[in-house]
Amino acid sequence: MNAIEVKDLNKSYKNGVKALNNFNLKVKEGEIFSLLGENGAGKSTLIKILTTYLEADSGSIKIFDENINKNPIAIRSNIACVAQQISIDTHLSLEENMIFQSRLYKVPKDIAINRMDKLIDSFGLKEYRSYPVSSYSGGVKRRLDIALNMMSNPKILFLDEPTVGMDIKSRMAMWDMIKTIRSDFNTTIFLTTHYLEEADILSDSICIMKDGKEIITGTPLELRSFLGKDTLKISFSKGDKAKKYIEELKKIYPKTQVFLKENKVLIDTDDGKFDLNRTTRFLIDNDILFNGIEIGKPSLEDVFLKLTDKDLEVNNNGYYDYTL
Ligand SMILES: Nc1ncnc2c1ncn2[C@@H]1O[C@H](COP(=O)(O)OP(=O)(O)OP(=O)(O)O)[C@@H](O)[C@H]1O
Ligand SMILES: [Mg+2]
Repeated sequence: MNAIEVKDLNKSYKNGVKALNNFNLKVKEGEIFSLLGENGAGKSTLIKILTTYLEADSGSIKIFDENINKNPIAIRSNIACVAQQISIDTHLSLEENMIFQSRLYKVPKDIAINRMDKLIDSFGLKEYRSYPVSSYSGGVKRRLDIALNMMSNPKILFLDEPTVGMDIKSRMAMWDMIKTIRSDFNTTIFLTTHYLEEADILSDSICIMKDGKEIITGTPLELRSFLGKDTLKISFSKGDKAKKYIEELKKIYPKTQVFLKENKVLIDTDDGKFDLNRTTRFLIDNDILFNGIEIGKPSLEDVFLKLTDKDLEVNNNGYYDYTL
């Protein structure tokens, strides 16, 4: 079943900015879904509409097959949203916040305590349980905020830029937490991010959006294969050497794009392993000294840059220059 289905969604703000422009999206139940886009792409607007905080101008949204406008109160009890600004009361401890939250949702006390213990245990937050939230770093506060939002047992958890501004250690702790939410609580996770690396590591599906439009959606692997070919990269000690031997290499690849980048020769390949073997043999048989040879997979960044048309460098052969 789809957890979320969005069709032809449009939203303009009063100042005339069209934040969503015929936007379409499907999120499967149980997956980690990342919405990737630059500043102003429309990510937060979409989250606000999906969580019933804002209304769209037109289009339809179904959450677990229910039209969102039909029964917004029932939808709200099934979802939780951790916005860009933290919502946890920093004067209180995590435990106090959690008990307070469970009262808001009218959860019986014994059930609430069980749930609190399970959440604190699963996320390894014992040491942060009883002291005021204000005593912790920004990264820890965000994790406590997410733990708090899990008290209502949501079927879908929305996270708007959960790791923005964090150092790498805090980001990794957050990634662990997000994976635990899915594995221990079966919650569908919808997150937004600027970071390609994050979307790649965490997600089952990624949607790249720009200017309020969906550009492409797929698994990280599907997005990479969209770019097509792998590249064989042969590095030499100097650019001069690469320039000299590119002519030799062109002889064994007469029908293929062979090009130069600094001290490397790059060759597009349909069969990376086969070409790796025969090229290595050719270099050795001809006493050509080289520093290294490898198969380069297109990165998610390549996909992103290609699709969002940013800083795209096309080399002399009309080929897209991969990040090396
Ligand atoms: N309340 C508002 N009034 C007018 N324009 C707005 C409002 N909120 C957002 N916008 C505009 O709508 C567009 C989409 O904004 P949105 O906040 O959804 O983007 P975003 O992808 O979340 O960006 P960021 O990565 O910076 O958080 C932007 O051009 C933004 O300036
Ligand atoms: Mg935003």
